[in-house]
Amino acid sequence: MKGAFVTATGTGVGKTWIATALATACLDRGKHVAAIKPIETGADPEPRDALALARASGDESLASAAGLYRAKEPLAPYAIQKRGGPAVGSLRSLAKRIRELAAGADYLIVEGAGGVLVPLDRKHTMADLAAELDLQTVLVARDALGVLSYTLTAVEALRKRSVSVRAIVLNHVERDRADDLSRRSNAEVLTDYLPRIPIIRAPKVQSPSGLGSVASQLLNILKI
Ligand SMILES: Nc1ncnc2c1ncn2[C@@H]1O[C@H](COP(=O)(O)OP(=O)(O)OP(=O)(O)O)[C@@H](O)[C@H]1O
Ligand SMILES: [Mg+2]
Repeated sequence: MKGAFVTATGTGVGKTWIATALATACLDRGKHVAAIKPIETGADPEPRDALALARASGDESLASAAGLYRAKEPLAPYAIQKRGGPAVGSLRSLAKRIRELAAGADYLIVEGAGGVLVPLDRKHTMADLAAELDLQTVLVARDALGVLSYTLTAVEALRKRSVSVRAIVLNHVERDRADDLSRRSNAEVLTDYLPRIPIIRAPKVQSPSGLGSVASQLLNILKI
């Protein structure tokens, strides 16, 4: 199935905003899109990211579909399991369920949870779900000091699991300082290290609707 898996260097770096903008851009192009957050913790009482994505794709029911992982505690799924909470279970079954939910759609947009190596169970991380889904992977990172190492680490971890990153979004999130000197060179340095991966800089905006041009560049790169 055609689509994108939106992962990140960590939590709170802009996955939901980018994934929502991607879903909206697909709809604007007249395509039927399913935007799904298969694993959401901190869902208290509602899975907020899943709802934002589902609304953006025009099908609110996707957020509460059976077979997706939801937990109240704001922790990694494996940490929740160790506290006696729900387990994620087989990643193959989860990936199958995600594809089933997107069966009638032209494109599937999936948001991860946290960063690429979030432990899902004793043996598997979010990178393994990315591998299982086999969509085009988009890596979101904060365009701020520290991003070089975070990004190179994430790309290596994904490559180790045979997941190639198709695009990197350097996102200027709301809390980032405008005078961060690293923002002048982050994209250039990363391009030297990762010459085959297109890097898109996303500006600081008021809401995901301000990321239309970023989403449209991404869809062109992904050939969606
Ligand atoms: N381009 C942007 N401009 C301004 N603020 C942004 C931008 N992208 C993200 N943000 C801010 O960062 C916050 C976190 O973004 P978002 O919820 O998309 O992160 P996330 O990676 O999905 O987090 P989680 O790991 O919880 O799923 C947003 O609520 C918003 O305040
Ligand atoms: Mg999110």
